[in-house]
Amino acid sequence: MQINPADISPEVHQAKMRFGIIGNAPALIAAVTRAIQVAPIDLSVLIAGESGSGKEFFPKIIHSFSSRKHNKYIAVNCGAIPEGTIDSELFGHEKGAFTGAVSSRKGYFEEADGGTIFLDEVAELPLTTQARLLRVLESGEFLKVGSSTVQKTNIRIVAATNVDMIKAVEDGRFREDLYYRLSTVLISIPPLRERGNDIALLSRKFASDFAEKYRMPEIQFEDSARQLMMQYRWPGNVRQLKNVVEQIALFEAGSQVTADSIESYLPQASTVYSPTITNHSSSSSHSYENEREILFNMIFRLQREIETLKNLVAGNKSMPTALLDAPHNKSTYSDSSSIVNYSNIKGGDIVTPEEDDLLHEVKDVIGHEVTSSMTLEETERETIRRSLERNGGRRKATAQELNISERTLYRKIKEYGLE
Ligand SMILES: Nc1ncnc2c1ncn2[C@@H]1O[C@H](COP(=O)(O)OP(=O)(O)OP(=O)(O)O)[C@@H](O)[C@H]1O
Ligand SMILES: [Mg+2]
Repeated sequence: MQINPADISPEVHQAKMRFGIIGNAPALIAAVTRAIQVAPIDLSVLIAGESGSGKEFFPKIIHSFSSRKHNKYIAVNCGAIPEGTIDSELFGHEKGAFTGAVSSRKGYFEEADGGTIFLDEVAELPLTTQARLLRVLESGEFLKVGSSTVQKTNIRIVAATNVDMIKAVEDGRFREDLYYRLSTVLISIPPLRERGNDIALLSRKFASDFAEKYRMPEIQFEDSARQLMMQYRWPGNVRQLKNVVEQIALFEAGSQVTADSIESYLPQASTVYSPTITNHSSSSSHSYENEREILFNMIFRLQREIETLKNLVAGNKSMPTALLDAPHNKSTYSDSSSIVNYSNIKGGDIVTPEEDDLLHEVKDVIGHEVTSSMTLEETERETIRRSLERNGGRRKATAQELNISERTLYRKIKEYGLE
């Protein structure tokens, strides 16, 4: 079911236009409506929803529809800040509070006084920080690290999570009192698979955006393709749909996309779909999503680099067929075995010296050789390790280079012991 666009309120329409939110599913419209309704009232809001469902629009809507809109809006990714520095980042510190604190520093709660703080991935906050946060929420008071002087701040807090908070409370990882404080108003973002025709709207919009971005002819989806996309369960939600459409827009530019061809871009639903809310620490669908994200981004980067190189060395010569065909070729990328095999890139008809040069460049872009015996994890770990090395350990630059979020990078660093 879809809400008729004519029946959508002007405010909701305005928010959708302003932030580029696509979709008319009743649950999505209800979430946007709730965000607008709660915006002028200074209550804490918790945005809950699966990974990739679009939670990050909502704190912005709340801030921009509130009387705080002319003051600061600071988004903090709680999962990306190391445990040792998070208190100082949020609340500031005094000179000499710890080794390296050569001068005092304001934290986000002081910086954003009068404005809004968005605490993304709030379930990742350490328990000590949760205690400080509870105090701010209850009394507006906080202490800088290393200070005994109570400071006051006037902050609206919007938090987001993709983990099951009740379970986090049960497991003792999240304070129950803080959970209730944060979720005075709860806004649930529906998973993509429950949004019906929004899947078609989103895929058309992404197809047209990517055609423009890559200056390639736009793809068209056949009915069979649309149907398949509507039935698929999208464990990575809108982010996954966007990634899939980006690949298709690149590799199938200008074509009529059928269900069969889409299928080769989708992992087997039965092996990756988990119907519960994604849990950061243990969910296989979560790690699947990040692994795919990194791999696909690598492939996109390769494709762009190759195109540039191709223009440089081979004039109008067409792109190596093996790369264009990569996502269709089950031996090149196999979900079920988690094995990456680029070995066929060197096979087939890629034999010219120019193309051989390009393949060396491919290796340079990834930063290392990918062999048929490397597992997805090993390839990913090695790619991240080298990127960190190239960027002198700077996480922001590394995340940008890999085209992934800092949070994903942070988790991967922890997961692979790359600290
Ligand atoms: N309704 C939508 N219309 C257009 N783009 C969307 C929509 N929902 C999500 N997106 C896009 O999908 C991607 C993922 O969204 P977002 O980053 O908000 O996810 P999230 O819910 O915060 O996920 P996570 O829990 O993993 O952080 C972004 O590129 C976002 O712009
Ligand atoms: Mg997010």
